[in-house]
Amino acid sequence: MRLINILMKNVNAKIEHYSRFSPSPMSIQQFLDFGRENACEKTSYMFLRKELAVRIANTLREVTLLPSSLVNQPSLKRVQTWYIQSFEEVLQFEDQSPESGRTLNDFLDTLNRIRSRHNDVVPTVAQGVIEYKEAHGFDPFISNNVQYFLDRFYTNRISFRMLMNQHTLLFGDTAAHPKHIGGIDPACHVTEVVKDAYDVAKMLCEQYYMMAPQLKVKEFNSRAEDKPVQVVYVPSHLFHMLFELFKNSMRATVELHEDNSRGLPPVKCLVTLGKEDLSIKISDSGGGVPLRKIDRLFNYMYSSAPTPNLETTHTAAPLAGFGYGLPISRLYARYFQGDLNLYSMEGVGTDAVIYLKALSSESFERLPVFNKSALRHYQTGPEADDWSNPTSGTQVPKYKSK
Ligand SMILES: Nc1ncnc2c1ncn2[C@@H]1O[C@H](COP(=O)(O)OP(=O)(O)O)[C@@H](O)[C@H]1O
Ligand SMILES: [Mg+2]
Repeated sequence: MRLINILMKNVNAKIEHYSRFSPSPMSIQQFLDFGRENACEKTSYMFLRKELAVRIANTLREVTLLPSSLVNQPSLKRVQTWYIQSFEEVLQFEDQSPESGRTLNDFLDTLNRIRSRHNDVVPTVAQGVIEYKEAHGFDPFISNNVQYFLDRFYTNRISFRMLMNQHTLLFGDTAAHPKHIGGIDPACHVTEVVKDAYDVAKMLCEQYYMMAPQLKVKEFNSRAEDKPVQVVYVPSHLFHMLFELFKNSMRATVELHEDNSRGLPPVKCLVTLGKEDLSIKISDSGGGVPLRKIDRLFNYMYSSAPTPNLETTHTAAPLAGFGYGLPISRLYARYFQGDLNLYSMEGVGTDAVIYLKALSSESFERLPVFNKSALRHYQTGPEADDWSNPTSGTQVPKYKSK
């Protein structure tokens, strides 16, 4: 027991130390330049052993600001031990010279091990949030903190995996795509990724409903009308977002029109490229969502789905999960300075728009930083309402006379 305490004290001091550094955001262009010009494994190792420690430490410090009733849920405890273990594994390289081939190989093994350890972070955290809700009910103050925290925590995770993947794809044994630089496609043909994501979603939809709407895709390149829309981007991130949006659109379309004798209305996709933005709009006729509910679709605590089953999520990807499709997709879009919005016309359908930066030199990682202003977020609750509320009583004097 005493040994554990000493070890924990040591780790905590290291977390404190590394969390004082801000993470260094990279742009897609920088990832590309580094990977292209005979990438140096030693340089990458030197950068990562510190940067990974900094990013984990920043997120671990933030965990301590969450209410203990939440952090002590068994699933969330489990996730914390994964992070601490991975943090310690990265620290083992603190004073190991990059000149040793063995060190570089050990580092690759460590990264692969960390990646698999963290595979199930998202469903496990979702489980933890459900455990909390079951034990304590829904609380707007906690929900506000959970939303703020999880957006930052999952962004951290996306960034963490991005860094590890670049290193292992560039320097490890796994064969990367010949034209890609690590996980980045320097000429990512957007419409092709759209079609791939549609095809996979369609397969799931047909398995589930025995039918699926068609896809109608158009593209418009305002910079060179005869050229396809291409971007320097991480195709797996783009695929992730599109796949989630297609699953949602297909489900809404089939549920509304499955008995319609005229068949299913198609899902439409428009891909456009301007000077600054690359935009992808997915439009369905699935009946839409009322405006009042749109924000909730991005809320981690509002999700009404039943408890996710960790065993089955590995074998069959379901058409709809535990309500994290939209919020996580938006984080992917925001990670490289883009965004994802839903515009719905209730009674008719929904447009979902993904915005990406057209220029890779502008796509800098958007990373959470643990600092005083983050601290304040956890201490202040949702603001008192300063707009009239139709459900509170009428004709009440605003200031009580003394
Ligand atoms: N295109 C859409 N049309 C109608 N409802 C939608 C659409 N997209 C999302 N929704 C609603 O938003 C909810 C949350 O979506 P999502 O975050 O992808 O989680 P999940 O699909 O796992 O429920 C869906 O369950 C659905 O009720
Ligand atoms: Mg979904």
